[in-house]
Amino acid sequence: MTLSYTDIERVPRHVAIIMDGNGRWAKKRTWNRLRGHREGAESVDIITEAARVAGVEYLTLYAFSTENWSRPQDEVVGLWELLGDFLEKKKSKLITNRIRLHFIGHMEHLPEKTREKALRVKRETEANGWDMTLTLALSYGSRDELICATKAIAEKVRVGTLRSEQITDATITEHLSTVGLPDPDLIIRTSGELRISNFLLWQSAYAEYYFTDTLWPDFREPEFLEALRSYAGRTRRFGKTDEQLGG
Ligand code: FPP
Repeated sequence: MTLSYTDIERVPRHVAIIMDGNGRWAKKRTWNRLRGHREGAESVDIITEAARVAGVEYLTLYAFSTENWSRPQDEVVGLWELLGDFLEKKKSKLITNRIRLHFIGHMEHLPEKTREKALRVKRETEANGWDMTLTLALSYGSRDELICATKAIAEKVRVGTLRSEQITDATITEHLSTVGLPDPDLIIRTSGELRISNFLLWQSAYAEYYFTDTLWPDFREPEFLEALRSYAGRTRRFGKTDEQLGG
């Protein structure tokens, strides 16, 4: 890849993306929705590579939400098949590029074949160390994640291994499925929708947002570069004043 990121002063450590617009991309061409998802998978490959070249350490992609189960059955089945084929096809590239595959969400809800394949590819990409983490959110919903964390914490309080007054910000963070991942610095949503759709609600407290009208299958290196440029031009204050930040 011949991307030049030299004009980007500050690269986000963790970029998270709500990949939206595959269906509309296909509809515009009078194709079925799965063709949109297939083209969307191409964008996943291209943006993973672009993120690696840019120096992004963590890329998290919202690939299947807890709500997506209610889509037509053939689309749901097609999406899992697509994911399995994609991981199999890209496995050696991930390993060569030292990209570890990681998952958040209810992996136990996935079709068995897809889950086994996904977990096998994950193990293989972890075997020899990594420089970048690609996290796929699968059967993921942030409220559900917070409910699970709350239950786990409540249970610790009940059995006496944790006192309620000991609960801090870190306690919640450590009980989420994203444990071990830094909070996202930049969250991108494609396709013109201005919503967060139950994605990383706790983790995005101080994230910068970038919304673009571009549909996910059309979101490629130039569009990603533009998002990084936008991020680099922002001042993150984390609740402080410009003066406190030395501005
Ligand atoms: C949203 O577009 C996209 C999804 C629900 C699925 C995302 C899947 C992919 C990008 C392809 C496979 C993923 C991987 C990781 C290889 P939409 O269908 O909601 O589009 P619409 O809003 O235009 O209907």
